[in-house]
Amino acid sequence: MCPFLRFGERIERYDYVLAPTNHRWSVGDEGETKHMIETLVAPEMAALKTRLKTVWESGDYGVFAKYMEPGALEFLDRLGIEPGTKMLDIACGAGQLTIPAAKQGIKVTAIDLAENLVQQAKERAKAEGLNIAIDQGDAEDLPYPDESFDVTLSLIGSMFAPRPEKVAAEKVRVTRPGGRIIMGNWTAEGHVGQMFKAIGKHVPPPAIFPSPLMWGNEEVVRERFGSGIANLTVTKRMFPFRYPFSPAEVADLFIEYYGPTYMAYRSLDAEGQRAFKDDLTEVWDRNNFASNGMTEVDAEYIEVVAIRA
Ligand SMILES: C[S@@+](CC[C@H](N)C(=O)[O-])C[C@H]1O[C@@H](n2cnc3c(N)ncnc32)[C@H](O)[C@@H]1O
Repeated sequence: MCPFLRFGERIERYDYVLAPTNHRWSVGDEGETKHMIETLVAPEMAALKTRLKTVWESGDYGVFAKYMEPGALEFLDRLGIEPGTKMLDIACGAGQLTIPAAKQGIKVTAIDLAENLVQQAKERAKAEGLNIAIDQGDAEDLPYPDESFDVTLSLIGSMFAPRPEKVAAEKVRVTRPGGRIIMGNWTAEGHVGQMFKAIGKHVPPPAIFPSPLMWGNEEVVRERFGSGIANLTVTKRMFPFRYPFSPAEVADLFIEYYGPTYMAYRSLDAEGQRAFKDDLTEVWDRNNFASNGMTEVDAEYIEVVAIRA
């Protein structure tokens, strides 16, 4: 979730020139945005990557993700991945799916951009007595041989890499023919999409790369995988966010522990911070169906299951 990052000087200028409004993140704008990122020279790309890594390493995603564990386990269980399957968990975070999958006997390898989250995932694996290869790296440039996994999976993870075509190509490359490429991607219409929109009012999303939410559109997914896949099944699902506290406290949780919101909030002055938190709270209030001081929201995402051609 990084629609609210601030980049290096050159990139900020692009952002400004393209007018920082949310309309750029519609499907029709993909071509222009793709062109923009592809024209970045190597040092600019390196600066962007470093910035994204810093964002994900800020806050503490391990703490934040604990409340999301039930939804992640529902996702994993539905997929029916057999013990012994060679699986790659891309953008594994603190190991939300990596650890339970390994406990089920799945032969997991995991990778994430954020150094500290890789470390957390390794510590969790060690504490559970699990021997899992967990690497620091980029979904756009996977350090694995061709056709080395039966399943490559990413739950609300690789959708945040700035060059989706590279992500799609890498997934196809490392998955064996007939294997499954699986993703869980937030939709623009759902609760998380609404949250992105509210946040974008305060810290405009970068124009330099396409919205991560485009991965929540079936046609875009189909186009990105192209002839690399033989079959595609896309199913709308709801991710349960359950917090034993109020929407305002959920906004605080995002501001303290979720890297992108942590960084966005701290880029604002005091008045901006108040307005940011109010708008974030309003989205959680709007979609909350609990009436007892708790917060219960179902957030729409698409479950993507593609068969590697
Ligand atoms: C919302 S978290 C999801 C983590 C995990 N899949 C889960 O469900 O708990 C997004 C993750 O994507 C990782 N990420 C973002 N861009 C990445 C990239 N280009 N390559 C690898 N990981 C990336 C972040 O570091 C972060 O851990």
